[in-house]
Amino acid sequence: MITVKVADITELHVDAIVNAANSSLLGGGGVDGAIHRAAGPRLPEECRALGGCETGDAKVTSGWNLRARLVIHTVGPVWTGGNAGEAALLQSCYRRCLELALERDVASIAFPAISTGVYGYPRSDAAMVASAVMREFDERFSEIIACCFSEDDAAIYRKILAL
Ligand code: AR6
Repeated sequence: MITVKVADITELHVDAIVNAANSSLLGGGGVDGAIHRAAGPRLPEECRALGGCETGDAKVTSGWNLRARLVIHTVGPVWTGGNAGEAALLQSCYRRCLELALERDVASIAFPAISTGVYGYPRSDAAMVASAVMREFDERFSEIIACCFSEDDAAIYRKILAL
């Protein structure tokens, strides 16, 4: 089941939450900063050992102090106008996260709107990419949550997903 929620992703009771990280995996602002604050100091320690992550790929850590058992860190593309393969990279982020989640027996997972903050990806375009991949994997999870940080963002997702 795909659902849309307006929430702080760090507060969700799910098996895994996805982090919109950068390639260093060492933390940052936005949702990355919020997840690191809520997870506590063991998270950056574990992240350091991962040696970074390529754009479009994902890596898994424990959730530490979060309610979620796992954090799946992915690196979205920086939007530079749409002709630099941004859509394929964003699609790859969602796919890799969901593939890793299946390998780790995750039944419920929440995604933030990857790349739509600091990285500048247009919100509607990003939501279309996200929704298409979520639909591909829908049957294999009990719940895939599009975790939005504003009602406006949630309205975009609800329209695309016809919810
Ligand atoms: N819960 C859910 N969504 C959130 C939260 C939260 N607590 N906080 C922000 N958002 P961004 P990006 C939404 O900028 O564009 C970091 O510094 C936000 O409204 O966090 O992928 C990293 O280290 C937006 O819709 O991620 C990278 O350097 C979405 O999360 C860079 O930013 C993503 O915004 C990644 O940029």
